[in-house]
Amino acid sequence: MRYSILLKYCCFIFTIFSSYLSSTSTLQLSMAKENHGTSALQSSFFQNLIKLFHIDTFIETGTYLGNTTNNAASIFQEVHTIELSKNLYQAACERFKGFANVNVHLGNSSEVLKQILPSLKRKILFWLDAHPCGGNSTGNSWEVIFDELEIIKINKIKNAVIMVDDVRIFGSSLSRIRDAILEINNNYTFTVFGDIAIAFPPEDNVNLSPLLQAMTISRLFHENENNLETVLQAEEVIALARGEERETLIEIPFSGYYRFWRSIILLNDGQFNASEENFRKSNARDFWSPGNLGPQDSRINLYLDKIANLKINLVRNYTESNEKINLDDIVL
Ligand SMILES: C[S@@+](CC[C@H](N)C(=O)[O-])C[C@H]1O[C@@H](n2cnc3c(N)ncnc32)[C@H](O)[C@@H]1O
Repeated sequence: MRYSILLKYCCFIFTIFSSYLSSTSTLQLSMAKENHGTSALQSSFFQNLIKLFHIDTFIETGTYLGNTTNNAASIFQEVHTIELSKNLYQAACERFKGFANVNVHLGNSSEVLKQILPSLKRKILFWLDAHPCGGNSTGNSWEVIFDELEIIKINKIKNAVIMVDDVRIFGSSLSRIRDAILEINNNYTFTVFGDIAIAFPPEDNVNLSPLLQAMTISRLFHENENNLETVLQAEEVIALARGEERETLIEIPFSGYYRFWRSIILLNDGQFNASEENFRKSNARDFWSPGNLGPQDSRINLYLDKIANLKINLVRNYTESNEKINLDDIVL
């Protein structure tokens, strides 16, 4: 009798434990909240990623001042950072000389990856961020990312989490990055996570929040991969974003798609003038932008027409009442 109770108890604990182990978790934009206002990835963001992905090795291409490297060093067992500029490399060697877990490498990122990847056996988080970035940085190509992804593919690393920074600079070629990642592992989930793209394999059992799914569909629309209806539905999800995810999205300080999404949220809030102004600016060039990085004019015009119609209707409804109308005060 006692044994059967013990057995039932063990089965119960096992069921709870195994369901915990196999349960899926959700990647949310708000997990990157503390990166905003800084140019480096924050330790809190790494902690959030580690809870989801169980990664223990961090590889960064493009060290620059080493601020992200420094935050990673306090979290990951093993850190590799690669820099093409000799001056920045030397500064990083000096900064991290007391860190047993940090390896600073000099050279072109894809060449160094070629050398170090074969000996790395633990689960990797790649932070692919090598490109010219002003100051005393170096490099003259925005295409380095494709060489890096090719080296990951050649090394058959199919279980890593891959993060690509500054996706705004890739404009419509973001889908080339996604395709190169899917060539590494066709089962990867690829998501637009603010100004970062993240890809991870299915065995991580991680879901995307509805907002991340919607941003990804909206961001890739110019490639005509989805029909307009699907994209407008996704953008309704963006319009209705709430809580910390909404705050995080609004705080992304760039133009292009980020301004476009802010405009959608403003429109849903009934702030027509502010929304209109932001829609108009959302395909303007950004400081970093080699080209036009926002949505196509036809996409923007669709929303501008919607605002114009809403304004006409509101004016019609209110003129008889003789009230003074401030359109930005009206919430739908
Ligand atoms: C945007 S910064 C990196 C910022 C850094 N990862 C961080 O999170 O703080 C880009 C860096 O990449 C370096 N770089 C440019 N091309 C490179 C290449 N082919 N290989 C390695 N580093 C490169 C630049 O010198 C610059 O320091």
